[in-house]
Amino acid sequence: MAVATPIQIRFERFDGALGIAPAKPPRVVTPEEKPALVARIKERLKAMDAVLLAHYYVHPDLQDLALESGGTVSDSLEMARFGHDHPARTIVVAGVRFMGETAKILNPEKRVIMPDLGAECSLDLACPAEAFSRFCDEHPDRVVVVYANTSAAVKARADWMVTSSIAEKIVAHLHAEGRKVLFAPDKHLGAYIRKVTGADMLLWNASCVVHEEFKAQQLEELKLLHPGAKVLVHPESPASVIEMADAVGSTTGIIQAAERLGAKEYIVATDGGILHQMRKRLPGVSFIEAPTAGKGATCQSCAHCPWMAMNGLHNLLEVLESGRNEIHVDPAVGKRAKVSIQRMLDFARLHLPAMKGSGDA
Ligand code: 13P
Ligand code: SF4
Repeated sequence: MAVATPIQIRFERFDGALGIAPAKPPRVVTPEEKPALVARIKERLKAMDAVLLAHYYVHPDLQDLALESGGTVSDSLEMARFGHDHPARTIVVAGVRFMGETAKILNPEKRVIMPDLGAECSLDLACPAEAFSRFCDEHPDRVVVVYANTSAAVKARADWMVTSSIAEKIVAHLHAEGRKVLFAPDKHLGAYIRKVTGADMLLWNASCVVHEEFKAQQLEELKLLHPGAKVLVHPESPASVIEMADAVGSTTGIIQAAERLGAKEYIVATDGGILHQMRKRLPGVSFIEAPTAGKGATCQSCAHCPWMAMNGLHNLLEVLESGRNEIHVDPAVGKRAKVSIQRMLDFARLHLPAMKGSGDA
């Protein structure tokens, strides 16, 4: 059996210091063992009354499995909505830990499990609850809006939780009410929303290790080679990359933009895992991953989230058989965090009814 070695992921902490976290790739699946693994996982999901929620960035095998077994492949907002509305007693989250925590906070009575509880997110790691709480205390005149990519304790300190598909609408709504905003943790997403809404926003200092690597100059060079290609960008990317976009959106937003714009070629600046659904939905269209480190070569992620990559078929089956890796959230923290998440879901119900992931009813 191939033994996976942990890799050290370097990320910038909110105070500018260097943080280091491990990420361990899952066991490799051989073509011979895959059919039996998939069949066994489907059996276990049924027997356990469990539903599988997969993010667009996880391995294509897990995305296919989620769809074939009646679950969903979607962005963070739809993962939260789908898990909330689904009657299954167990929710299995193939994604990163904040997604599992959100599912647990919304469904405290259900069991939420994940293939690997070590699947972190650099934004979450760079926003420790105590430091964040002090920052909020220093700015009591601001409404606190946090990105989904945060811990339960940070969500509990917030007034609103947002995902990238709804952040702009919610901040625009708060701005129209004359509110000033404190936004955390993603400085690029925050700066983008500040620019498009004109809202007064104070930003936390953190970024995503994957999107931080996209480089504008190399993108410019790639565009010269593909003059007809449209550029699709996730708003966690640096401003210089966002400026070159034909469409900016969440993962679901990026897929919908590709369907809408009708180009024959797209350059995509987000985790390459998304290309699986894009190719399925738009056969015959060409998708190119946006360039990352270029000649500077600092790339650790190269457009693939090392923590999303920790989800695999072997560790999924293992948790379905053992019941291990259950997500627990302190009930008092969860109760407070639920207020900020529920506020977003209620807003989404009114203002964003059409956003759907793959496999949603
Ligand atoms: P989405 O909500 O767009 O799926 O983003 C989640 C994420 O972690 C992007 O890096
Ligand atoms: Fe976090 Fe970036 Fe990975 Fe998304 S891609 S989960 S923001 S580290």
